[in-house]
Amino acid sequence: MEVARRRGFVWPSSEIYGSIAGFIDYGPLGAMLKRNVENLWRSFYVFQEGYYEIECPTVGNEAIFVASGHVKEFADKMVQCPHCGEYLRADHIAEENGIENAGTLSAEALQAALYELPCPSCKEPLGEAGVFAFNLMFQTTIGPGSQRKGYLRPETAQGIFTDFSRLLRFYRDKLPFGAVQIGKSYRNEISPRQGMIRLREFSQAEAEIFVHPDRKDHPAFHRYADYTAPLLTIARQLDGQEPAAMTMRAAVDEGVIANEYVAYYIALTHRILTAIGVDPVKLRFRQHLIDERAHYAADCWDAEVYSGRFGWVEIVGIADRTNYDLRSHAGHSGTSMTVFMPYDEPKRVVKRRITADMGVLGPRYRGKAKAIADALAASEPGEDGARVTVDGEEFFIPADLYQVREEEVEVRGEEVMPHVIEPSYGIDRMIYVALEHSYAEEEVEGEIRKVLRLPPAVAPIQVAVFPLMNRDGLETVAQTITERLTQCRILAQYDDSGAIGRRYRRQDEVGTPFAVTVDYETLEDNTVTVRDRDSMEQVRIPIERLPEVLSALISGAATFREIRA
Ligand code: GAP
Repeated sequence: MEVARRRGFVWPSSEIYGSIAGFIDYGPLGAMLKRNVENLWRSFYVFQEGYYEIECPTVGNEAIFVASGHVKEFADKMVQCPHCGEYLRADHIAEENGIENAGTLSAEALQAALYELPCPSCKEPLGEAGVFAFNLMFQTTIGPGSQRKGYLRPETAQGIFTDFSRLLRFYRDKLPFGAVQIGKSYRNEISPRQGMIRLREFSQAEAEIFVHPDRKDHPAFHRYADYTAPLLTIARQLDGQEPAAMTMRAAVDEGVIANEYVAYYIALTHRILTAIGVDPVKLRFRQHLIDERAHYAADCWDAEVYSGRFGWVEIVGIADRTNYDLRSHAGHSGTSMTVFMPYDEPKRVVKRRITADMGVLGPRYRGKAKAIADALAASEPGEDGARVTVDGEEFFIPADLYQVREEEVEVRGEEVMPHVIEPSYGIDRMIYVALEHSYAEEEVEGEIRKVLRLPPAVAPIQVAVFPLMNRDGLETVAQTITERLTQCRILAQYDDSGAIGRRYRRQDEVGTPFAVTVDYETLEDNTVTVRDRDSMEQVRIPIERLPEVLSALISGAATFREIRA
């Protein structure tokens, strides 16, 4: 983090006024790294999967979050130290003191567990300090003098759900389809003491994939069927075992993962995380325990990455959320959130139609007659009549006040409410673990070399261009090369300050994978050296081949060893 701050990746926000925990600024290199990570994510979800990206406001009407359940449920358990007054996250204190799965404990159980534990700030025992639910949403009002309540979105997902009908039309009324959103989310975290891991404003990349509830076979499952990922299943957790590597096909066939969609996105997540520089040995997929999983979810897995500083950290959540979100929004908004699924062949079915005698019902029940007739149409009448409820009032309608007819009708299909598969990524956490896992200190020629081994696809600067000396025309050639590489959409940086060794070290520290050096030989034969950050080996290349060679190295189409051979 010291290198990250000093070299312009990330630092606390608004330091000149005293920064507030949970807010960070990305500096020039950090912002570039973030864009690259987001673009790599897009290359999979938007380009490979074909899920278009949308962009919704970060401020939302209260109604959205009432329907989504966030107003009522999106709370963490909080405790206030009776001695120093510090607000603390109750389950975190319990977990830091060895109580496992404290997040699943009730407020009362947590309160009892905290009794003898010390406050992390003043070290006094928390004693009888009460445990309360604290809603994590930032509330605001919309418009001047307005009473209209709004919230900063706590996740990007809700915009995709509220846009469901428009997206369905965009995708020509067919399932499956998906939409993604990358953007800021806000959570008023109680006590964010974990740097980039727990922020109050952070970026998420979420995909919502709408599938037929009975067809959860991914159409391109073959792509990842043989892909292996380390799975920490519920059973292995309960037995205290380590994760076991399994292919996605075996995990689905053996019922370990609920369906192909969830398995597919576990494999895809493994690919994305390792592609940004996460060490595969420190990556596992942990299945949510039954009491940890949302009651509506069919299956849920977290991609967890081991951090030397924070232990195992959740980076991505992958869930089969069934139709919970669409059902809630349909119920609260009164908008249909189903998809008409035509049958291959129309079917003839017998339907019962109940028609009320409005000539009698009208005068007898007046304003309620229409509602009673509607309720009657959906009722299950007995021999003497039907019992219906309207506005909480029960009515008995005798059998001579309606007619029951059975009719054969042609049905062309059915309305289906899709299920949602949701892979949800925390971009800032991805960046933190990529930085931590890429960072190394090694001894080279008696000196410590600090190096960020970021993969070329995400490195903020892809190529550094150095003139060996800042004279004799070397600098002009180096500047021309920098310009040429930038025109070829390679992120190149010209650097002529300090000794060449220092320039290499500076670029190693910020993760620049390749460095081009213009020397006196260049003036004679138009060749330059290309140095590989990781092996520190060099190769001589004609200037005109630089764009092609560097593009191949950056995209991974060629390795440095192949170029040297
Ligand atoms: N729509 C589902 C959802 O939002 P989540 O597990 O609450 O699920 C998804 O969040 C991801 O967002 C997490 O896995 C994590 O990487 C990231 N995230 C959540 N809260 C965060 C915070 N306070 N700071 C940074 N990242 C966070």
